[in-house]
Amino acid sequence: MINFAMSRRLVILVATAILLGSSLLLVSWDSDSGSLWSRPSDAATKETTTPSKPSAPSTDPKSPTAAAATATAPTLLPHVENYFQQVFSASDPTPYDYPMLHEFCENAPWRDDSVYLKCGGMSAGLTSIVSQVKVCLKMAIDAGTHLVLPAMPLRDSDDLQNFNFLNASAYMTYDEWFDAGHLVKQMGRACPKMKIVHPHDLDKSVAVKHRFEMSCGDAWGYQKIHSYFWVGRPFRTFFDGQLFFLYTKANQEAEKAKTPPPKEGITVVDIDSEFLLYRITDDPTRRDLRLWNDLSHIVRFKQDARQIIDQLLSKLTRPHYGVHFRVEKDAIWSSLDHQLEVDLDALDKAWSRFGHPEREKPLVYLACGSPTQVEKFVEAGKKRGWDVTHKWRLVEDDAATTKLINDLPFDFQGAVDMGVMVRSEFLIGIQGSAFSSTIANQRDVTGRYRGSSFEMPDDEGARTHLFNDLDATEYACCL
Ligand SMILES: *[C@@H]1O[C@H](CO)[C@@H](O)[C@H](O)[C@H]1NC(C)=O
Repeated sequence: MINFAMSRRLVILVATAILLGSSLLLVSWDSDSGSLWSRPSDAATKETTTPSKPSAPSTDPKSPTAAAATATAPTLLPHVENYFQQVFSASDPTPYDYPMLHEFCENAPWRDDSVYLKCGGMSAGLTSIVSQVKVCLKMAIDAGTHLVLPAMPLRDSDDLQNFNFLNASAYMTYDEWFDAGHLVKQMGRACPKMKIVHPHDLDKSVAVKHRFEMSCGDAWGYQKIHSYFWVGRPFRTFFDGQLFFLYTKANQEAEKAKTPPPKEGITVVDIDSEFLLYRITDDPTRRDLRLWNDLSHIVRFKQDARQIIDQLLSKLTRPHYGVHFRVEKDAIWSSLDHQLEVDLDALDKAWSRFGHPEREKPLVYLACGSPTQVEKFVEAGKKRGWDVTHKWRLVEDDAATTKLINDLPFDFQGAVDMGVMVRSEFLIGIQGSAFSSTIANQRDVTGRYRGSSFEMPDDEGARTHLFNDLDATEYACCL
């Protein structure tokens, strides 16, 4: 059993090394975004993520964010406001019912045995981790299991290519990454049959009867980091088959060893939660996509990042265009000069196509993890008539918030940028980045980037352009 588990880990390790070597899959957060604002005339319809009550910008007059929003006339499209509320808001999010999560849970094959899924094998940049967490939650819902909160490694903030996959001390449990209270509360409402336990409670307050190891690598024809399960090849079928095999083997071993029957307790199934595992967009009914969008809303960032976002938004005195400037030390995409050039051209194009001539030109907010590279964009932008800013510049007269930002690890600084980018009036990013792609998906009312707003006859307000720059081909289906 130990050798079995170790060889599994070796396979995962080798595959992960391949993954890390593959530039197409590296993901990071440092992008800048455009905007999803609607003018009063843009009556946007919302289909997949409609909040139970359409949420409006805060009307609390004491909130600086509310003051800024009032001063700048446009309001966010309801689906974007809802996403922002659930994932980034400083105070309690507005109510949202998670309707497709609820529907899936109502129809899930809940078992009478106590099987808990414990996901592992996750690592990468922040938005890739979020995607892998969603794979984990979907696996549990598909199979009708309960959940042990997963743990994921935080990458090295200085050596961005070191994802710390094998570094046990870099692993943080879900509640150290994200707002676990939000997950538990919303699951409790939408999916009340799913029990959630903390890994630290296993074998303490929660007795464990069986511990099994399952691997996606045992699924017929599965290839690492390629999509596999979809409505036509359900995860549940694979899971049930493997679980039956594992129970049978455990019973045979117990019989052979003449051990007394196991005490009461739960069954913990360790499984690798693989990046891009689900072919979400291959479900023609779009139920998988609506579930996936609901899961995007349940992974909420922690208070520290949300508070900083609130501070940054209060300093934005007018609407902003967002640009993901992906030029940190680990960047594998086109050169800084090239990105700078095409981004500025795209900003001009966005303003001439979608701008409001009666208003002042928007600010440009850069999402970028490098405090020095951003200044190059600020300079170049000035020459082209753009007032460019970024998280460090916005709070340069606020030492306390500056410290809060700089104390965050690289990936959580990315969460801060993400919250501001989501609210951009126009978003510019690159398709090869999971950070850019994740934001682009959430800006579109379908929950999926539909292509550039420069190309579409009607983008329904998504106002997004992603450059083809070392694209990751399976992001479109499966991120
Ligand atoms: C492992 O992770 C810890 C905590 O993040 C870090 O301090 C340490 O440098 C890492 N070790 C290696 C070998 O990267």
